[in-house]
Amino acid sequence: MEIAGSTALVTGSNRGLGLALATELLRRGAKVYATARRPELVDLPGAEVLSLDITDQASVDAAAAAAGDVDILINNAAFTDGGNLVTGDLDRIRAVMDSNYYGALTMIRAFAPVLARNGGGAILNVLSAAAWNTVDGNTSYAAAKSAEWGLTNGVRVELAGQNTLVSALVPGLIATKTLRDFATAQGLPLPEHLLIEPAALARLALDGLEAGDVEILDPMSAEAKKTLAGPSLAFDLASL
Ligand SMILES: NC(=O)c1ccc[n+]([C@@H]2O[C@H](COP(=O)([O-])OP(=O)(O)OC[C@H]3O[C@@H](n4cnc5c(N)ncnc54)[C@H](OP(=O)(O)O)[C@@H]3O)[C@@H](O)[C@H]2O)c1
Repeated sequence: MEIAGSTALVTGSNRGLGLALATELLRRGAKVYATARRPELVDLPGAEVLSLDITDQASVDAAAAAAGDVDILINNAAFTDGGNLVTGDLDRIRAVMDSNYYGALTMIRAFAPVLARNGGGAILNVLSAAAWNTVDGNTSYAAAKSAEWGLTNGVRVELAGQNTLVSALVPGLIATKTLRDFATAQGLPLPEHLLIEPAALARLALDGLEAGDVEILDPMSAEAKKTLAGPSLAFDLASL
């Protein structure tokens, strides 16, 4: 998938990885719709800023109508702090599933016809190594990312016929404020040597998309994937 000359839409572009992806897309010569549910927070010269809440069908439909030239859809936005499954607040658990799974699915359903009209293009879903190995304190997020992994595999099969590349970016740990706040709140040690900077991950993601990769891993997620051949594990962050 050629990035230069393409038209990309990124969800959650006001901060974190979404901002880094939108920045790198612009640097590589794409037209970029930088979307956020609070568009006034997007500070990205050269991008077209759109208001978009991925959990609101009317908002998603409006974005699809406004951005009919999109040929790369990047589902990055997510609410990540759902707590644990058994003891956590059920509304937060639902909110995590709502953004990670149903939000991404709502976007894909709205944009699949747009991509088809524009030659097929590509969808990049931002998953997590937590889809494969979880950590105590946020197991609801891991479950939602597992569901989004299944969604990504399913949509890849469904959209092959319209020539849409459906790819998964699977980060391990990204050095964003959200991760650091979570680790502090949980009293978890972060393996600093495994953290990847958002800008470096954005470059890896777009290199993978340009190469046509269906799965884009960083060093930590590559290790996590190997464990799928064995018994299910939890991440022991202290020992990584
Ligand atoms: N950080 C990590 O270690 C890590 C590791 C693996 C995977 N990931 C994944 O990487 C992606 C980005 O993570 P990050 O750390 O960059 O996240 P982040 O800094 O917490 O940013 C999350 C973004 O998603 C937006 N968002 C949340 N709910 C939304 C909704 N309903 N509609 C539209 N936008 C919404 C947020 O908007 P507001 O500013 O309005 O809240 C924000 O822009 C996520 O999919 C995450 O699951 C992260």
